[in-house]
Amino acid sequence: MTTAMSAILKELALEFRPMRLEDLAEVIEIERQSYPFPWTQSIFSDCLHAGYSCWVCTSAGKILGYGIITVAVGESHLLNLCVREESRSRGIGRKMLRYLIAIARRHDADILFLEVRVSNLPARKLYENEGFNELGTRRSYYPLHEGREDAVIMARTL
Ligand SMILES: CC(C)(COP(=O)(O)OP(=O)(O)OC[C@H]1O[C@@H](n2cnc3c(N)ncnc32)[C@H](O)[C@@H]1OP(=O)(O)O)[C@@H](O)C(=O)NCCC(=O)NCCS
Repeated sequence: MTTAMSAILKELALEFRPMRLEDLAEVIEIERQSYPFPWTQSIFSDCLHAGYSCWVCTSAGKILGYGIITVAVGESHLLNLCVREESRSRGIGRKMLRYLIAIARRHDADILFLEVRVSNLPARKLYENEGFNELGTRRSYYPLHEGREDAVIMARTL
């Protein structure tokens, strides 16, 4: 591939819009390729019905990633952030996270909390680079095929 072509591919025209129920088939396909214990369709539809802030990032109509936050009484929580496997390492995760931070700020949140698997180094690196600090760990928070795994709790003031 020429340098010019790869530059064009890198400059995907991304759009952010609220997630809709009709998106769930595509979202779940991404979710299943991304997590060892993926959320089910009913978890996503519960998030939509509960009025959580659920967003997708698209390019040419295709969903490349999604993110979900909740905001209440000045605090926000990142519940999910995920990028389609073949679209990773092109800056989409970072853009999505910054977009969600802007939404949380708009809803007057002062802080954004999240949990991440200890073993999830790409995500931990992303959060660290975006100004999140480690607050501690939740022991045995996540399931593994054998046993459980700790969560790192992270937060960033907004
Ligand atoms: C975590 C995730 C959202 C990152 O998305 P992405 O679009 O690939 O990330 P970006 O290209 O925006 O990268 C931003 C930063 O993240 C970090 N990062 C991303 N992929 C990485 C990798 N494979 N190894 C180490 N750091 C990585 C880097 O700090 C990177 O910045 P840099 O390129 O300037 O070094 C993506 O890997 C993903 O969807 N993983 C599966 C779902 C998941 O684990 N979500 C997080 C749940 S808490």
